[in-house]
Amino acid sequence: MITALSLLSVLACEGEPAQEVLTTDLSYHQDVAPLLSRSCVGCHDAGSSLGAMDLSTFEQAEIWAPVIATEVEAGTMPPWRASTDCNSYKDTLALSDEEKADIVEWATRGAPEGDPESASELPEPRKPEVLDRVDMELTMPVAFTPAASPDDYRCFLMDWPAEEEVWVTGFEITPGNYETVHHVIPYLIDPDDADSYRALDEEDEGEGYRCYGGPGGDVTTLINTRWLGSWAPGGGARSFPEGTGLRVQPGSMVAFQVHYYVEPGTTPGPDQSSIQLKIEEEAQGWGDVQPWTDVQWVLGLGMEIPPETNGTTHTFSYEVGDGDRFAMHSLALHMHTLGRSGRMSVKHADGSETCLIDVPAYDFNWQRSYELETPYVSAPGDIIELSCTWDNPGKDAVSWGDGTGDEMCLGVSYLSGPPE
Ligand code: HEC
Repeated sequence: MITALSLLSVLACEGEPAQEVLTTDLSYHQDVAPLLSRSCVGCHDAGSSLGAMDLSTFEQAEIWAPVIATEVEAGTMPPWRASTDCNSYKDTLALSDEEKADIVEWATRGAPEGDPESASELPEPRKPEVLDRVDMELTMPVAFTPAASPDDYRCFLMDWPAEEEVWVTGFEITPGNYETVHHVIPYLIDPDDADSYRALDEEDEGEGYRCYGGPGGDVTTLINTRWLGSWAPGGGARSFPEGTGLRVQPGSMVAFQVHYYVEPGTTPGPDQSSIQLKIEEEAQGWGDVQPWTDVQWVLGLGMEIPPETNGTTHTFSYEVGDGDRFAMHSLALHMHTLGRSGRMSVKHADGSETCLIDVPAYDFNWQRSYELETPYVSAPGDIIELSCTWDNPGKDAVSWGDGTGDEMCLGVSYLSGPPE
């Protein structure tokens, strides 16, 4: 794209200093509309309830131009937090530095319309993913109103309805109350463990059972239990790569964990969240929603973030073993509200490095999953590293915990068997 910025010097009259009038050759129809169409209109169109404003017409784009420039320059819109210097992702919404500069220049120089007759072709808006079909839906048995404040963790057991072995090939989690739901992780409980989970449920009065940490009454069950999916603010539907899925046996259960955040002094409304699933009866290749974190941290050790400090970083390293063969397709990073930045990368045996995801400006409200253009295929000796960096302005040290005021450092990935 040509960034033709012309500085016109207009002499008011001879002898007086030149007055500069800034103009631009960039125009809406020629330069800006294609960028807005690709990176913004999928959420910001006339029919969409996701984003507040419609950015699909010149009239609207012109009105909003100053705010568009502010958001684009700050990097807050589009809500794409993964750095494109690190890796390439499918269906990226990201704008290059040059594209950002063009939008900002256009907006700050009067948002000229240009000639609609010779408008550039508009790329398809990249819409948030939706499932192409829903074969099964699991909904919390009844609506639940969180009682504990500021944080309530509740697990709701659901019977797995399929009578044959099936493969889950995509999911979408629909929170019932966005005001209070801070995350949802539906865990897959194997048939052999179903009774012990029923017992947990029976011990606890009321709907569901308290499940701080993991679904099984012990924090390590957070990472030792299979995940059926996950949702945090900014998350959406996910379809797994062709030919792969999560295998589920008949007689399994789902422990549907919801983290409710209740602002002290407020009364939340009820929530009845659900998960929609795409199912195949035909056998699929092995797939797994795999969380990455340090078990020591989960147990409360070694992830301390001292009070009144900026930039505390903790790093977890995992060495890929000989029998450890997988392809990693997608990644999301999860921290709480003190999170500043996060990164996952691989150090190879020959000293080279592959960056998997780098989120330089972490935002609790936008924790989507990023799908690698080229999956990472593990090799024995590779070291996978997960790093999180926090700023803690508070008077107390913070470490791993379930509360929104505690912290976490999790990478969430989708793995399948390695390519043949
Ligand atoms: C994935 C969906 C999504 C995409 C893509 C997206 N937005 Fe947004 N945008 C939102 C949502 C949701 C909000 C309202 C909540 C918020 O501000 O976070 C919003 C808010 C805004 C606001 C208003 C901020 C304010 O002060 O109220 C502006 C301006 C904006 N977006 C511009 C853009 C531009 C420009 C692009 C593309 C370069 C873009 N958005 C891409 C979802 C999106």
